[in-house]
Amino acid sequence: MRTIRGAQCDRPPIWLMRQAGRYLPEYRATRAEAGSFLDLCFSPKLATEVTLQPIRRFGFDAAILFSDILIIPWALGQDVRFEQGVGPVLEPIASEAELAALDLNGIEDRLESVGEAIELINAGLGADIPLIGFIGAPWTLMTYMIGGRSTPDQGPAKKLLLEQPDLFFAMLEIVEEACARVLRMQIKAGVDVVKIFDSWAGSVPMSLRQKIVFDPIKRIIENVRTDAPQIPVIAFPRGIGASYLKFANEVPADVLALDQGMDPSLFDHANRKVALQGNMDPMFLLGSEAALADELVRQRDLFAGRSHIVNLGHGITPEGKIERVEQMIAFWRNAA
Ligand code: CP3
Repeated sequence: MRTIRGAQCDRPPIWLMRQAGRYLPEYRATRAEAGSFLDLCFSPKLATEVTLQPIRRFGFDAAILFSDILIIPWALGQDVRFEQGVGPVLEPIASEAELAALDLNGIEDRLESVGEAIELINAGLGADIPLIGFIGAPWTLMTYMIGGRSTPDQGPAKKLLLEQPDLFFAMLEIVEEACARVLRMQIKAGVDVVKIFDSWAGSVPMSLRQKIVFDPIKRIIENVRTDAPQIPVIAFPRGIGASYLKFANEVPADVLALDQGMDPSLFDHANRKVALQGNMDPMFLLGSEAALADELVRQRDLFAGRSHIVNLGHGITPEGKIERVEQMIAFWRNAA
């Protein structure tokens, strides 16, 4: 929390995107017990268990709520399933009638179990370990809501934007409101920090990023801060390259999460000082001990002198090796 506020601590704090997940045997066991992935997300007891597993095993400096960005479309009434070997499958939205069927009313009630999980997690976490809540940003959610699944180029969402802009922006407005309400609910239930994942921001053409990426995220932050002015926000507009400087200047996030393609020195040109999170390529957790050792030294040099939260440039993959995660943590614990 001190690093978020701009301090440089004795050593940088560390947590990892997807720190709870399939690379851990204890996750796979709880996942099997839950049945489906959504059952795991909606069971306060089991979601608490998998949130705490990586904290117990590795002693990370922050926990991230176990959930998924796609529970928002689910709570809006869209059909959402996770299929083994496929990933998320949604009933695609392509018409005004399908859009009209989405229901913002009572969205917080439908996600009551998430609030219960947050309370249980806080009861199980040490008082010195903050809990991170999160949402997917509207554009990233809409790539799934419109495409019906993971789409390599986010083509269906782009096509709707270019063919039926009125429908696209009407949907953006609904999704944005849902995002703000769900974050407010998480904050009320007790998360200490929130993160906004715009994992597909980089696929929005440069000329449209203002309207589709920057402005909605900015409005969501302003919305939640009317009631929670102090809540720290981590933003992750993945893959936007040099336009991240404009984002930094315009969007009032406290922490900028960097993907592995970003150079932290870009933010020396920003109009404010901001903490940075990231950005080791998760592939180094699959390789040799020597390759990771070299990369960790490069990461330390890259972020030297900055307010830095150690993390990856994207989530750990299921093939991530536990020994490499241990090596990474040991390096940073001794890096001061
Ligand atoms: O980081 C964490 O440990 C917290 C939990 C978390 C999950 N998903 C659990 C999950 C978080 C923060 C997310 C965010 C999320 N979900 C994003 C944004 C971050 C990113 O990675 O870009 C996106 C795009 C999604 C959508 C999603 N969820 C997809 C495309 C998939 C399938 C891909 C896959 O890896 O299987 C999921 C499933 C999912 N969400 C899993 C986990 C642990 C794997 C499901 C399983 O256990 O079978």
